Order: sequence, then structure tokens, then C-alpha cells
Amino acid sequence: MSEIQQPTSEDPTITARPETSLSARPLPSGTAPIKAEYLLYPTSTVESSSNAELNGLDQDDLAEGPTAGGDARDNKRRKPNNNNNKKERRGANKARSFPVIRETNIKICKQWESTGLCEFGENKCKYSHSWNGYFEIKPSDIYLNSSLSNLSSEPPYVDILDIETTTVEENDIIGKKINLRTVCPVLKDLGYCPYGWRCRFLGGHIKKVDSNQAESESTGPVTTIGKWELTNFATGEPENKEERWKHGETNWADYNVIGKLKRNQYDFPFSKAYLSVVEPEKPFTLNTSIPKYNSKQPKHNKRKQNNAPLDEESAMNVSEEAALNNEESALNGDEEDALNGGATAEKGYIAGESEAMEVPLRPEEKKRLNWEGGRYLAPLTTVGNLPFRRLCVDYGATITISEMALAQPLVSGHNDEWALCRRHESEKMFGVQLAGGFANRMVPAAELISKNLHGGVDFVDINMGCPIDLVFNQGAGSALMDAPGRLAKILVGMNRALGDIPLTVKFRTGIANNKPNAHKLIPKFVTQWGAGALTIHGRSRTQRYSRLADWDYIKTCADTLRESLADANLPPVPIFGNGDCFSSQGYYEEMEKSGVDGVMVARGALIKPWIFTEIKERREWDISATERLEGIRKYAEFGLSHWGSDTQGVNTTRRFLCEALSFQCRYVPIGLLERLPGKLNERPPAYKGRNELETLLSSPFVNDWIKISELFLGKVDDAFNFIPKHKSNAYGGEEAQG
Ligand SMILES: Cc1cc2nc3c(=O)[nH]c(=O)nc-3n(C[C@H](O)[C@H](O)[C@H](O)COP(=O)(O)O)c2cc1C
Ligand SMILES: [Zn+2]
Ligand SMILES: [Zn+2]
Repeated sequence: MSEIQQPTSEDPTITARPETSLSARPLPSGTAPIKAEYLLYPTSTVESSSNAELNGLDQDDLAEGPTAGGDARDNKRRKPNNNNNKKERRGANKARSFPVIRETNIKICKQWESTGLCEFGENKCKYSHSWNGYFEIKPSDIYLNSSLSNLSSEPPYVDILDIETTTVEENDIIGKKINLRTVCPVLKDLGYCPYGWRCRFLGGHIKKVDSNQAESESTGPVTTIGKWELTNFATGEPENKEERWKHGETNWADYNVIGKLKRNQYDFPFSKAYLSVVEPEKPFTLNTSIPKYNSKQPKHNKRKQNNAPLDEESAMNVSEEAALNNEESALNGDEEDALNGGATAEKGYIAGESEAMEVPLRPEEKKRLNWEGGRYLAPLTTVGNLPFRRLCVDYGATITISEMALAQPLVSGHNDEWALCRRHESEKMFGVQLAGGFANRMVPAAELISKNLHGGVDFVDINMGCPIDLVFNQGAGSALMDAPGRLAKILVGMNRALGDIPLTVKFRTGIANNKPNAHKLIPKFVTQWGAGALTIHGRSRTQRYSRLADWDYIKTCADTLRESLADANLPPVPIFGNGDCFSSQGYYEEMEKSGVDGVMVARGALIKPWIFTEIKERREWDISATERLEGIRKYAEFGLSHWGSDTQGVNTTRRFLCEALSFQCRYVPIGLLERLPGKLNERPPAYKGRNELETLLSSPFVNDWIKISELFLGKVDDAFNFIPKHKSNAYGGEEAQG
């Protein structure tokens, strides 16, 4: 029977995956075994050659790059009295792939808004000190219902009450825009809403008052306009200056420190002392006003190859670093030497013991952390943002880590890089991941973290795995695996700069496919350079995601680690394995077989964040579509709390929600599978879910992700156009957008 069966295309709820081949052949390997009753075309198969491509696996490694276009870099919450916002925002918006709903005609002065005062005064400040006219241009409230019971598996999936049906009969301008039945997710989360009148869920914290007051002239923020009074407005500023928590988050960059870093006036006493010993020939400077491009760096051109859109600023930052170090980046001849315990490594090690730098080095001198049995969410650029990590913690993750932060912009005081270090209070064991190729940036970055975020950072991890050219060509990420001389200086220095904060490393098997060298570095990591925990991703740099991680080699590494610790008579150092974990069963099998202390989960968590519940409860969870939608709503709410519930925050939340959905749509409900557990690298033939919502959630089309976002974030502008950073699932996107 080779006749092609056409889908019943009238059914708008069935989102067909693009067809590849429809002949009646046995399922090629790599095809998810979907039960016949859920197949859209009973005879269809997928073209195995295109599996990886269609499943987005070939794109996964590109997604590891530093966030491009400034997207995740603008994930900071705007400070109420930041008067410099204009410039920053303009830059950020330019890079966005979606237009911001216009609310720009009137820009309210943040300082005036939160305190009722502005240090610049009425005439000097560029921003508005009045709400006059604001509500004429403010978009209407978004309706959000936070009760658990209001989700359903059939359209419209949530109870949608639009503004027309719920607006109070008031015909004043505020009355027309608000929805008194909406819930403000920030108020729900924090007990106050710092977005006040700008909040798009304003109806959730406003009440009618009798008097018809004009905008009050009194001191303090305006809390009454016309017949409406703002309730639960607070800026969340900690009363005590020492208190580092605000809005349920910590690791806020200190304004003064950022200023000093920008002006190159920050003192790095430890880094100076250390670098003068290990690199006496290179005076320590953070001055970056030297030529950005250097002809000795032909590798720059290669950046284009990886198609990753570049954030020009961060591209420049790394190239500055390389330019600064260009003598060294002609990869020092002492690397091999160092691996064999040669001069450079020796120098770094011994220097570290001189009295000038008497700070802890050995893991036992560090804060004790409980790694064993930890459910570790991998570092994930762009998608591993704070709201996503919070969701994973909710599902059972116990160890979380920031997106990769680049050392250079960090020590240059770039706010956006500092924002990557932010931690939510639910993250009980939290690390910051740093990338950089040289001690003269990595050690100062560690010193900064230790001095300024101490208490908010449980460990610092070095990225030695990032494969993309932009990072690799600057000597950072996986390039470090072939640079033991630089590694020695970086690790020993960072380790000491960090004081009692443990230093960890995340690395690959090696750079080239058939030349794994991780096992050669491991003894150095733990016996000489003081790494407090290791994670090995079982792939080489050149290996694409379409090939499976090498868990046999991970076992070799775990064994090597144990042997070298035993030989040196040292206490245990935990090692995590990483690669392809997609189920509870897989998690425990890999752990047992390889002898690692835990398995770090990356794409498995992106596709099914509830994997942490499965691991915790040692079961495979046939999660229902409404339960999945519940997770999506949580993510939206966490996003609004973090990025803001004003128009800009809603836009940012939507953009990252769509980014998250570009992974979550790859989940094939396990109830539809012939055999368990599901596999990360298997691609389903076209299928439908057990109900309309399940079908919708499997859609690879951008327009459907937007539709899902609208359930919680309100309608988008007609012009809304989302292009995921990670394009894997945007196939057919053109049609979808047509
Ligand atoms: C979208 C994406 C972003 C990533 N970002 C980072 C990162 O910032 N730092 C890092 O060390 N690894 C990063 N990785 C690699 C993962 O942490 C992990 O090592 C890799 O995906 C293999 O694990 P998995 O098979 O469970 O996905 C990223 C991977 C993906 C897919
Ligand atoms: Zn002002
Ligand atoms: Zn609010």
C-alpha cells in the first residue's frame, strides 16, 4: 500500500509536521515509535538522513554560543531610578527580533516614579514627571487567571476574559484600560508590584476611591490618579544596605563597583599580585583601548561560519581580550610541557603557595557543598535564564548554574553580563559559569565575584566546553582543553581569588573526535589545580549533537579521577557525567554504568523540564497536556516577575517563552510511545496528541508558540515576528508566518 494518505487538512488543530517521505517502509532508526492510532499518516516515515536536521540536533551546538543580539543580555530588571536607560534600551531593542509594543511617546522618569522626586529636577530631566497622557497610549490590561483549575485540554485552554467583558462601566481613561479581574503575577509572587501604574496587570492592584483627586502634588510616588488608587506599590529596595536580596533575587551588581569597572578604577589587589608572579613579563591592565583587530588573529574571519548572529559588542569584547594577549595566543609552546608537570604549571602552583597569596586552595579548605545525588541543571546560554531555572527547581532540580558569562565584559562592568549572575531565592545551590581564555581576565573576574557576590554564589565553574568559533578562536571554552599551561594559571589563580568558594570545571572529551584528552587533564584538575567538582560532557568539540555522547569514555574519566585521588591520598572530588539524559531510567542507568556522582541534564530539561521530577521520583511521568500548560504558565509568571510586568517586560517574557517552547515542542508524550523511555535523538513522524492541547504543544510552528504565549501574556501586535535564536524547530516557519 503505497498510496499517500492526505491529512484531513480542514482540522485546524492538527499541526502536521513537514512531510519528508511517505512510502511504506519500516521505520528507520532514529524514529520515535509512535502508536499507530496517533500517527497522522499511517504509512508515513521520516527520512532518516534528515532526522538530525529536522530534530534540530544539528543546531544544538550553535545554541551554546554566547547570547547574540543582546537578547539575554537585556534580561536585567530595570532599576527604578536608572536615568541612563534610554541609550541602553535603544541598543537592546535594535537587536530584538520583534517590535516592542509602542509605549514610547511618554517615558516616565523612574526615580520620580518610585520616590516622587528626581535629583535632576523638572527642567533638566529628559523624562516625564507626570502621568498626564500616559494612559491614552498605554495598552489595555492583560487578563491572567492564576487559579490551578482554569486550564483545560480543549480550546480556549484557559478562561479568556477580554477587556470588553470585564471593564468596569467607568468611562475615564484608566477605567477603560484596566481589567479588575486580572491577577498581577508580580504581586502574587512578591506581595507588591514595583511596576505600579505601568504594570500591564494593573487591574490586579488598583481600587476605586471616592474623591476625584488630581494627580497628587504631595511628596512620595503618585498613588492616586482620578478616582483610582494604586495599591501594593513598593520598590522592593532593601531597608538594610547589607541586605542583598531584592524582588526575591540576589547578586545585584553594585552601582559603584560597575562605575569603577567602567572607568578602569577598580582595584584588583589579588589579581595584580598573582599575575605579577605568574606573568611577570605582562603588566596587568584592564585597559582595552588598544586596537581591536590584530592581523595576527586570522581566525576572526571564521566567526561568520557558524551562522550565529553576533552581538557586536560581545564579539568585540572577546577580540579585545585576544588582542591584549596576542603574543600568548600564538599558543604558548609550554602547553605540552605544562601537561607533563612542566615549568609553567609548576610556576603557577608554587607561586600560589607563596605567602603573598595565602588563601585556601585545596578543596577541603573550601565551603563544603553537597554534590552527591544532586539534580544538576546544565548551564544553558539564553534558555537557562533565571525564570527557567526557577521552573526547573520547582520540578526538582537541586543544583543550578548561570548562563555562561564572559570574563572580559564582566571585568569591564557591563551590566548585561552582571545580570547573568542573578540568582533566585529558590536556587539553593547556585554557581556562576565563566568563560575566558586567559588568567588576566579570568582571575580578576573571580576576584570580583568573590568580593562582590560572596554569599550569593556557591561555586564558580569554568566553561571548557563551548564549541563555537566565536569563543573557541579567542582561546576560551573548549580551546582551553589544549592549553594546560594557561589552564594552570587560570585555575590556580581563580581558585585562590575565590577564597572559600569552590571552583569547578565543565569540559568535553577533547577537541578533535578521536583524540580525547580529558582523562589526561583530570589528575591535574584535582591534584594540582584544586578543582572542587568536575563535569564531563561526553562529546568532543568537533562532534555534532547528532552523535551520541560517549558514556564509556565518561566511565574512563570517572575511574581516572578516583585513581588519581587515591594515589595522591586525597578526599573524593565529585564528577558529573553529561550527555543525552532524557529519562529517569536513563539517568540512573548511566550513573550506575559509569560510576559518576550524578548526571547533568541540558536538552532533556529544555524539552521536558519535569525530567527533574521523574529523576527525583524515579519514574517516567506521562505528563498530561494541561499539566504541561501549567508549567508554561508558571514560566510566564516567573518571567514577568523577573523581566517586569510592564509592556517591555511582557515583550521580553514572551520572547524567552517562545524560545523555551522551541525546545518544549520536541517532547513526544510518552503515553503515545510504543516503548519507553523516550529518546532525545529520536524524531517523531507526524502525529496528533490525545487532545487538542497536546497536539498544539507539539507544534513546531512559531505561530503556535505565539498563540500559546497569548494564553498568558495577552495578544501580540500584528507585526510580532519571533525568530528563535535556536532555529531548530522553526522549520516551516515561513508558512507558519505567512
Ligand atoms: C541551547 C544550549 C545552550 C548551552 N549553553 C551552554 C553554556 O552556556 N555553558 C556550557 O558549559 N554549556 C552549554 N551548553 C551545553 C550543555 O550544558 C550540555 O553540556 C550539552 O547540551 C550536553 O548535554 P545534553 O545532551 O543533556 O543536552 C548548551 C547547550 C545548549 C543546547
Ligand atoms: Zn527625572
Ligand atoms: Zn503589577
